[in-house]
Amino acid sequence: MGKNLSIVTISLLLLLASTSAGQVFNVKSYGGQPNADITQALTKAWKAACAVAGSKVVILAGTYKLGAVSLLGPCKGAIEFQLQGTLQAPSNVGTDFWVSFKRIDSLTVSGGGVFDGKGQTAWQKNSCAKNYNCKTLPINLQIQHVTITAPGDSPNTDGIHIGHSSKITINNAKIGTGDDCVSIGDGAQDVIVNQVICGPGHGISVGSLGRYQNEEPVSGIRVIGGTLSNTKNGVRIKTWPSSPPGTASDMHFENIIMNNVTNPILIDQGYCPNSQCSNKSPSKVKISNVSFKNIRGTSSTKEAMKLICSKSVPCQQVAVAGIDLVYKGEGGSATSTCVNVKPTVSGKQNPPACTSKQQ
Ligand SMILES: *[C@@H]1O[C@H](CO)[C@@H](O)[C@H](O)[C@H]1NC(C)=O
Ligand SMILES: *[C@@H]1O[C@H](CO)[C@@H](O)[C@H](O)[C@H]1NC(C)=O
Repeated sequence: MGKNLSIVTISLLLLLASTSAGQVFNVKSYGGQPNADITQALTKAWKAACAVAGSKVVILAGTYKLGAVSLLGPCKGAIEFQLQGTLQAPSNVGTDFWVSFKRIDSLTVSGGGVFDGKGQTAWQKNSCAKNYNCKTLPINLQIQHVTITAPGDSPNTDGIHIGHSSKITINNAKIGTGDDCVSIGDGAQDVIVNQVICGPGHGISVGSLGRYQNEEPVSGIRVIGGTLSNTKNGVRIKTWPSSPPGTASDMHFENIIMNNVTNPILIDQGYCPNSQCSNKSPSKVKISNVSFKNIRGTSSTKEAMKLICSKSVPCQQVAVAGIDLVYKGEGGSATSTCVNVKPTVSGKQNPPACTSKQQ
């Protein structure tokens, strides 16, 4: 079966998950064999692992069938779920979720394996495109109500990083950290970040992109709702200068509250932390089809909106609608800067869009 299956590989960087030493609970020891159904074996292995702090559940390489499972906490301590093989969903899951992790503190999901939702068999049974009161399909793997904490001054502690993954939804997470609350890297497609509460931290970012060769496109990103408080950035797209060509498109940010955020709305195509990059040529990551809608609150600096696009590939199809960002400090009211971009503007604009322009 090919690429069309809804396959999710996820790498979750949940902080404080120090599962290094830990006891290993291999589903094989609980009767889980390749090509057979391991629902019971996994449930048993999980229960045993959950009762021990710093444990690891391991599913070795191979293909396994798995019915709907709830892997429940609270557990004794940090726990790791290491999937090296492929888990295949039944053709009729019968519940709202296929694999669900619940009430767990300090979970690491690792192993590079595959959650194969067998989407093609289920899609035919879904009428949601035509019928509003339809029965929705089960969710393959969903991350919700997660709390992640690290101090505001801790280095490189992204709360959740998503890359090389598709069809991921993050719902109602509460994240405080020293780096991005949510960072969306290359190869991320069809990602929904819904109602995330972020702060302290560096906000919700797409990127950085363009640092490495052969990065995959980013597309279909929706950041909806949520509040960012006292963060360095609000919603941001960042790419490195002197980059190889790449694309990031179809990215939409809406209904977001900013509380005292340093850069509430930011596209930064000259991203170069600690001046460790070559500034010789502009970024070649093409950004298109971006919208910032209904974003309000307060900015801790005057520059509430900065859209700094690349000279070599100016941003295209950027829409800015319903912006109300207030700066209360000294030196006048909030401003907005546009470089190599001509956004379509509608609704309220505070500050007025592109008060300063460069091309
Ligand atoms: C732009 O984004 C919208 C909203 O997701 C999508 O429907 C549309 O197909 C995209 N357009 C292009 C040209 O990618
Ligand atoms: C607002 O943010 C600035 C800079 O991050 C910080 O110094 C200041 O204490 C914050 N103000 C409030 C009221 O939290």
